[in-house]
Amino acid sequence: MNKKNLDWSNLSFGYTKTDKRFVANFKDGKWDDGVLTEDDKVVISECAGVLQYAQTCFEGLKAYTTQDGRIVTFRPDLNAKRMADSCRRLVMPVYDEKKFVEACLATVKANIDYVPPYGTGAALYIRPYMFGSDPVIGVKPANEYQFRILVTPVGPYFKGGVKPISVRISDKDRAAPNGTGDIKAGLNYAMSLYNIVDAHNCGFAENIYLDPKTHQYIEETGGANIIFVTKEGKLVTPKSNSILPSITRRSLVEVARDYLNIEVEERQIHKDELKDFVECGLCGTAAVISPVGKITDHDKEYVFSNGDKMGPVLTKLYDTLTGMQMGRIEAPKGWIVEI
Ligand code: PLP
Ligand code: COI
Repeated sequence: MNKKNLDWSNLSFGYTKTDKRFVANFKDGKWDDGVLTEDDKVVISECAGVLQYAQTCFEGLKAYTTQDGRIVTFRPDLNAKRMADSCRRLVMPVYDEKKFVEACLATVKANIDYVPPYGTGAALYIRPYMFGSDPVIGVKPANEYQFRILVTPVGPYFKGGVKPISVRISDKDRAAPNGTGDIKAGLNYAMSLYNIVDAHNCGFAENIYLDPKTHQYIEETGGANIIFVTKEGKLVTPKSNSILPSITRRSLVEVARDYLNIEVEERQIHKDELKDFVECGLCGTAAVISPVGKITDHDKEYVFSNGDKMGPVLTKLYDTLTGMQMGRIEAPKGWIVEI
């Protein structure tokens, strides 16, 4: 190993070109074996399905250096499964789930010198993605596809790391009722771009989306699920078929129930309930758990933490989850996959 000379502790959540990426092509009804290549450029038809009708989906997971120097990923099988679900919904060919995991591990291994050292707060972000690559002009799925995996070393998603952020309830939607909110389609993120720029211009770090049908219930933000804590110390998280099934959130629910003896409710959460919660956090691969200090809903403000600290229940969850990811706490069987 010959670690790259990067300022690991001060990385932002950004793209750094690394040495190798994985590329596989789907043609004539089948995937080729795929290769690791130094070529970071994509060459496709000017009329490719992804360019005309946004036929693309992606995943996000991380590789970590553990306390004892191993390099691991967290539940990559669930990313493989969610990518397969996204592909089926977008009429794209599924990339075999086992091969998906193998390709992620191989891409990390090929860029091992970019995996941030233990204790820096940084990780190697793994971005698998697929897109329609051959010409499509009538509205229909492409015939040919490319599946790629790039990796890039990243720091915290929100500036300031675990400092509580200020978010707003959004008037706009990121997903439609019965739409694609529950898969990781690029189009969901395109939908959110205008609104995230506007949120930043208004001084908010993120938008909280309400359910697109009634605009009454809390859903998620543009890039993370949401968790709340009640006065009694219960963990409450929205249940809806238009939010992304976050692997972090599903893991936290299990950690809370099985490791920390915290009661969990997964249910609809009306926006008027915001006043009843004492802690709030955004959770996801990129966000980890990012504490929310304040939610603004037009003329109403809900304040969750005083000063610049994460609350006690979220701190316990954060310490346990990251403890598992960094090898300090034993994780349930199958959660940690070593490279
Ligand atoms: N919700 C959205 C819209 C996301 O983009 C993400 C990020 O992947 C999440 C939630 C969190 O999901 P996960 O914990 O699987 O990373
Ligand atoms: C992730 O957490 O992996 C995501 O895809 C979120 C994205 C907004 C960076």
